[in-house]
Amino acid sequence: MSVSRGEFSSRLGFIMAAAGSAVGLGNIWGFPTQTASNGGAAFVLVYLVLAFTLAYPAFMAELLIGRYGQANAVTSLQKMSRTAFHKRFAFLVGFSGIICAALILSFYGIIAGWMMSYALEPVLNIAGVSNTAEWVVTQSTSRNVLFTGLFMFLTIFIIRRGVEDGIEKWSKRLMPMLITILVLLIGYVFTLEGASEGLLAYLNPDISRVLEPNLLISALGQAFFSLSLGTSVMIIYGSYISKKENLVTIGAQVTLIDVSIAFLAGLLIIPAMYVAQAQGVAIFAENGSLISGSGLVFTVLPALFDTMGAGGLFVATAFFILMTIAALTSSISMLEGPVSFVVERHNVERKKATTIIGILIFLISIGIISNIGVMLDFVATLATEYGQPLIAMLCCVFVGWIWHRNEILQEIKQGNDNVETSFFWMVWPWYTKFVCPTAIAIVFIHSL
Ligand code: PHE
Repeated sequence: MSVSRGEFSSRLGFIMAAAGSAVGLGNIWGFPTQTASNGGAAFVLVYLVLAFTLAYPAFMAELLIGRYGQANAVTSLQKMSRTAFHKRFAFLVGFSGIICAALILSFYGIIAGWMMSYALEPVLNIAGVSNTAEWVVTQSTSRNVLFTGLFMFLTIFIIRRGVEDGIEKWSKRLMPMLITILVLLIGYVFTLEGASEGLLAYLNPDISRVLEPNLLISALGQAFFSLSLGTSVMIIYGSYISKKENLVTIGAQVTLIDVSIAFLAGLLIIPAMYVAQAQGVAIFAENGSLISGSGLVFTVLPALFDTMGAGGLFVATAFFILMTIAALTSSISMLEGPVSFVVERHNVERKKATTIIGILIFLISIGIISNIGVMLDFVATLATEYGQPLIAMLCCVFVGWIWHRNEILQEIKQGNDNVETSFFWMVWPWYTKFVCPTAIAIVFIHSL
């Protein structure tokens, strides 16, 4: 066991880092895209409800596991285990989370690479190298390998520096930048023709769709992905937070930031689509729903930027830098999961462990790139639709059924003297024991 573990130096540092992990492509791309393909505001409504009633309690379970264990996901889960069987189960759950984080990073890095290349394209055009500009936005293997590699390099660079100097410092720099760019872009889009129509589509729910199974499943998956659950990430971040801090409130604040930024991203993207429509860009797919997925981000939005003349180049760059920053504060957390495990369990020096694991994950990315049409979707589905909900559910089972109730309550009390009269105190332990696993299981089985 390493003697000096990293720790976030301040509450703000932790909030920025955890919100940085949570806020990512999932918020700025995934959420608006899902909203577009699931009938607009009805999806927003369901998402908000599920984020607070299911994702937040599960998120608290992971943070508490980590802070109690003061170690990587596997070791933390094993600390609450009493029998040899529990310990093996703990290993299975913790290790699956770590693998899940690595798999997510392997495809997330590719998409983040696209964002970087699209941020670069306008700059290259201005610099007059239009051949290169054209190349960076084509789906070629060499372009994908280059930009994924570049993005992985940045991720490794930050994680090599550790918790305070790496994760915390960079999250504190990047998150305010992200929020600023997002708000400026929203302000700008709102001045354009068509935005108000988009606002209506975004905020006016078709209540009849609220209980559609597909919508429920997508909203739950989105909420779990967005809070980085089931990946060992929030366990390890929880382990770096001081025992003096009130986790219950901090966890709620991070959830609120995550949800708010997703909401803001929708406020940017959906109106932007209608602005694009006012400019003659097609925004509806053949089945009548809004274009979503990569078509939205890499076709509709660039088409919109193109109609804006010279200013559009600037807006395009700002938008894709926003995406890249969001992705980077998430990717560092994904790398921290496996790195902390190898550092603490196998006594490997941090810098070395980071570089080796980073390169291994990059190799998986190259494998995906080599057959991108099939593999990207396969790995993404495996990790986010199956892995994350299942592992998050098992973490709740662990807290509810294996961890001793007294110890849980003790951990909740740390840094939180008045908690015993709170709603959280009265409800959360049994809620996590019964409701969370059941609800996750129902949605999960339904989705099979
Ligand atoms: N929450 C991140 C996002 O919304 C993605 C993520 C998933 C980060 C899993 C860490 C672990 O983009």
